[in-house]
Amino acid sequence: MASRHFLDLDQFDAGTLRKLLDQGRALKSGAPPAKKLAGKMLAMLFDKPSTRTRVSFEVGMKQLGGDVVILSQRDTQIGRGETVADTARVLSRYVDAIMMRTTTRKNLEDMARYATVPVINGLTDDSHPCQLMADVMTFEERRGPIAGKVVAWSGDGNNVAASWVHAAVKFGFELRLACPRELMPPPALLDWARKNGGKVIVTHDPQQAVAGVDCVVTDAWLSMGDEKKGETNRHNLLAPFRVDERLMAAAKKDALFMHCLPAHRGEEVTGGVIDGPQSVVWDEAENRLHVQKSILTWCLE
Ligand code: CP
Ligand code: NVA
Repeated sequence: MASRHFLDLDQFDAGTLRKLLDQGRALKSGAPPAKKLAGKMLAMLFDKPSTRTRVSFEVGMKQLGGDVVILSQRDTQIGRGETVADTARVLSRYVDAIMMRTTTRKNLEDMARYATVPVINGLTDDSHPCQLMADVMTFEERRGPIAGKVVAWSGDGNNVAASWVHAAVKFGFELRLACPRELMPPPALLDWARKNGGKVIVTHDPQQAVAGVDCVVTDAWLSMGDEKKGETNRHNLLAPFRVDERLMAAAKKDALFMHCLPAHRGEEVTGGVIDGPQSVVWDEAENRLHVQKSILTWCLE
């Protein structure tokens, strides 16, 4: 049987994603701590830094009775030119699943193609699906079903924004993306959303995007790896998209504020917003643990 990979939300049917969320909620609410993954080993490969992804996957595996091996690029022969394909073949002989945080989507796809064990996307330049599972779970804990609700993204049209687009289509909510013209999400992604009946609206005006919404989301102005692109005016482009008290005031009175973290207070969000009463950022971080335990169980059972 083919391995159950968790690569991107657009590859799933909505029912499976819903089941993963339900199981995540059950795990959080103290369902018996079955050691469902006893004896299982997860390898985690990090080509970029991480706090939440690394710790939540390690703690999650251990809570389920399994264990982890953590590798950064410089610990492996990938750093010296061994291919991802060969690494996938070798790791599959040692471990039961692989979580990969990398740069290109091709690296992730090669890992999934050549591994004979499940592969989980722990973020690429293009997407961050585990984050979105935690974010939808967080929204629903506070506000009930996300279907039919309205979420606004204000900032860079980056990897996390792309996974919000996937989530909007799969979970049936409206997504309004306010991004600078120069930092829009890829046209192919927006086409995919349109073709799949998604309500994804793109604008360059953050005030217009957040008007009356249930949730406002942003992310760092500089994602990991962006510094290598040598752009000089990113901060100027993104300053009008900062989530501050004035922007939040245009949303619903009880709108949630979300951010995948790490945050940069004074850049993409003010301290008053992220540390204020509408912010649910710590719940988002916590829910990574619960929903990823659900994903790990689905991949490995
Ligand atoms: N949100 C998130 O993935 O955080 P880390 O980069 O710390 O893993
Ligand atoms: N967009 C950010 C998310 C970090 C979790 C990045 O890629 O650096």
